[in-house]
Amino acid sequence: MGAATATVLGEALNVEYLARNSASRAAEERPVGQTLLDAAESLAAGFRLLWVTLEALDEPGLIAYYERRGFVRAAPPLFDAAWGTLHPMKRSVSSRPP
Ligand SMILES: CC(C)(COP(=O)(O)OP(=O)(O)OC[C@H]1O[C@@H](n2cnc3c(N)ncnc32)[C@H](O)[C@@H]1OP(=O)(O)O)[C@@H](O)C(=O)NCCC(=O)NCCS
Repeated sequence: MGAATATVLGEALNVEYLARNSASRAAEERPVGQTLLDAAESLAAGFRLLWVTLEALDEPGLIAYYERRGFVRAAPPLFDAAWGTLHPMKRSVSSRPP
């Protein structure tokens, strides 16, 4: 399937790592990334947090992927020595994508 890690940061659950196991894609019947993001939101709601946050890699398609799932820009892009340009994004725990 895939994997995600997250940490509580203030009033947010920050998703630090999100990835589908590409080798298993053919066998998947459900959307892996979406399922992991839903799990993050459920966890955040359980902790009574306000936000799910993440730092998207600098790929237009990936940013659009998160925007389709209700994430918005949270801050200007930042630069990480290991990952390059990153785009902070957030989604309200109470909001659902259309
Ligand atoms: C990002 C990721 C976890 C999404 O997982 P997924 O299981 O492929 O996505 P979902 O099943 O939730 O959604 C699938 C849809 O999103 C699209 N999509 C997924 N990843 C995308 C990407 N990087 N760019 C553009 N579109 C993407 C698919 O094309 C598909 O579109 P469709 O419904 O029109 O066919 C996965 O692509 C991945 O592991 N990417 C590599 C690691 C990565 O970039 N992680 C995020 C770091 S911020």
